[in-house]
Amino acid sequence: EKGGFDHYMLKEIHEQPRALRQTLSGRFDIDAGTVDLDLDLEEAYLNSVEEIQIIACGTSNYAGRYAAELLESVTEVRTSVEVASEYEFDGGRDPWRTLVVAVTQSGETADTLSAVRKAKQAGARTLAVTNTLGSTVTREVDDSLFIRAGPEIGVAATKTFASQVATLSLFAVYLGRVRGSVSSAEATTVLESIRALPGAVQQILDDEDYIREVAEEHGDSNAFFFIGRRFGHPVSLEGALKLKEISYDHAEGFPAGELKHGPLALVTPETTVLAVVTEGSNADETLNNIKEVQARGATVIGAASAGDSTEYLDVQFSVPDIGLLEPLVTNVYWQLFAYYVAKSKGRNIDKPRNLAKSVTVE
Ligand code: F6R
Repeated sequence: EKGGFDHYMLKEIHEQPRALRQTLSGRFDIDAGTVDLDLDLEEAYLNSVEEIQIIACGTSNYAGRYAAELLESVTEVRTSVEVASEYEFDGGRDPWRTLVVAVTQSGETADTLSAVRKAKQAGARTLAVTNTLGSTVTREVDDSLFIRAGPEIGVAATKTFASQVATLSLFAVYLGRVRGSVSSAEATTVLESIRALPGAVQQILDDEDYIREVAEEHGDSNAFFFIGRRFGHPVSLEGALKLKEISYDHAEGFPAGELKHGPLALVTPETTVLAVVTEGSNADETLNNIKEVQARGATVIGAASAGDSTEYLDVQFSVPDIGLLEPLVTNVYWQLFAYYVAKSKGRNIDKPRNLAKSVTVE
């Protein structure tokens, strides 16, 4: 049932191009620069929204952070992302003008459900972005948007992260069009990046043997730091989460600029740093941070846009030139890196210790 793969996780990593095609299917018109998500939330309401709050846990929270960055740049609507277990509806906000978006693969995460209830209680409208038809969250919210990634069995979320970001990216363009903050030409540019996702992800999958070699060579590092700016930041958080979940190695993700404010003290020649330096990640600014860690002997594995000059990286992964969503494609490198580090250590990849696929307790 694993389709010839050793683990569900690997199967699901490989399913990403197909999952993304399903996510996107029939939902946009590239020439017209329009998106159709079949939402029940009325356009008049969406026009009046002044703030979006995204609530989610774990990987879904990181997908939310990626989306928030895009929502802000496309819609000019202030967007915040909160960890669901920390969420409170703050009295200073106007609930009628706040859209609360719950991102949850399973639709059953207790912390997220409880945050949705708080938002409803305060009078805000709620939208669920989920993979699971008929899940509890869909019965609680005003409207649901399905990511259509197909069932995910591996405890570590992989294909659903990509499909969550893709779905939310479409939502950002949709909202921008409804509100008139984005022209059809600008929408077409973002949609072109979205449309290129399945093919770009496939190109990373085709690089699997090389990624395995790199993972086997660097897997014994005593710590892994994932760094990146802008869209590269949520991808760094997600890369570190994946590695720690399945390999049990110490991994952290943070914005590249934060290195010098503390984490640099931990960097030694036994550290591996994984950097996002593609389009959409303010790569030029990250260059200095890379030099700082190299000066302390760390090895830097970087994912850069194809064609960029990257002699400064110790190991280079190449990401197809697709614009704003290149950091999302980079995540597939980080997934395969985590998978092969964990595999070389003989970990229980599909069922890591202490973790459950769906966390139904608060
Ligand atoms: C990480 C992972 C978890 C989930 C989190 C939220 O690989 O799977 O961090 O992302 O428990 O789950 P959902 O999205 O089902 O609400």
